[in-house]
Amino acid sequence: MVSPHPPAEGPAPAGPVLVPGGAGYIGSHTVRLFQRRGVPVVVLDNLSTGHAASVSAPLERIDLGDRSALGQVFERHAPRAVVHFAAKTYVGESVSDPARYYLENVGHTWNLLEAMRASGCRDIVLSSSCATYGNPIEVPITEAHPQQPVSPYGRTKLHMEHMMEDYSRAYGMRFAALRYFNAAGASQGGDLGEWHDPETHLIPLVLQVALGRRSEVQIFGDDYPTPDGTCIRDYIHVEDLAEAHLSALARLQAGRERLFVNLGTGTGYSVREVIAAVERVTGCKVPSRTVARRPGDPPRLVSGGMRALEELGWRARRPALEDIVADAWRFLSAHPDGFAR
Ligand code: UFG
Repeated sequence: MVSPHPPAEGPAPAGPVLVPGGAGYIGSHTVRLFQRRGVPVVVLDNLSTGHAASVSAPLERIDLGDRSALGQVFERHAPRAVVHFAAKTYVGESVSDPARYYLENVGHTWNLLEAMRASGCRDIVLSSSCATYGNPIEVPITEAHPQQPVSPYGRTKLHMEHMMEDYSRAYGMRFAALRYFNAAGASQGGDLGEWHDPETHLIPLVLQVALGRRSEVQIFGDDYPTPDGTCIRDYIHVEDLAEAHLSALARLQAGRERLFVNLGTGTGYSVREVIAAVERVTGCKVPSRTVARRPGDPPRLVSGGMRALEELGWRARRPALEDIVADAWRFLSAHPDGFAR
């Protein structure tokens, strides 16, 4: 496809940071942090999965598929940078409906990059994923690990990384691809948190059992080659993720052109350890039942390496599973029905 836009030229615009997907789980925590640090922000979100109630900044309610509206947003705000969260994120759904994932994750990111290029906006921080590594051949997983995603979701995230790399080399754009491990937890203030419909993530599901909203947790397989037989994941506090976005943007604006960084704690916890942590934090017994493995779940995903510390001066400040669970519990207890729509 031939781009209608010339490469970015001239001085960079000086408006607020534009945050597509800023009404979502990780986006809303990041917007909050930017505001607390005095960084002006405008959220762009179609509210298909995000929540207006979680947005504390000006909101442009548009869809990234609407290129004309997107161009107008860039004209109105002249954003100095973009922090891009808007994407589809369900691995299973990406297998049954890959078209939607290629359209929304890859196609809409292309729209965004073109709007940036047309307006001279050069810097973008992107939500990538450890799903771009696929089934690990070595754990802990460093950024040098081969990227061979096994789901359409992971492949679309890798396409997004590649697209940005090509745009960076050709058009002088600067980017950071932040490869999250398992985002979890909620704001320590208790007002922002995770609310997906449907919910598929382990920690909120276990907490919903503790709350009495579900009868039991299903453990997807207990015959994995791990100490207790259940899958191990690296749970990273959502407020730690938010900090990394601020650091990554600062690094780009200081002149760094390309960054690929894992964001995890380097410590993994099994499904059974998560259930036990929820029982300790909530004081409630959580009934569980082992069922078949979920297709595509690698036994162990844990972040490795020092790049986040070296490049961003970042490390997780709230890595303990009990703290992550306690923050998520505070949010869920205060919002048992999620955000009011
Ligand atoms: N699990 C259960 N029962 C449940 C839900 C999950 O046993 O009811 C297990 C899963 O099998 C997995 C672990 O809990 O072993 C964590 O599962 P989540 O669904 O919470 O998270 P994932 O590790 O599957 O997914 C996360 C992100 C994705 C990302 C993926 C990369 O949510 O966006 O990591 O592997 F793609």
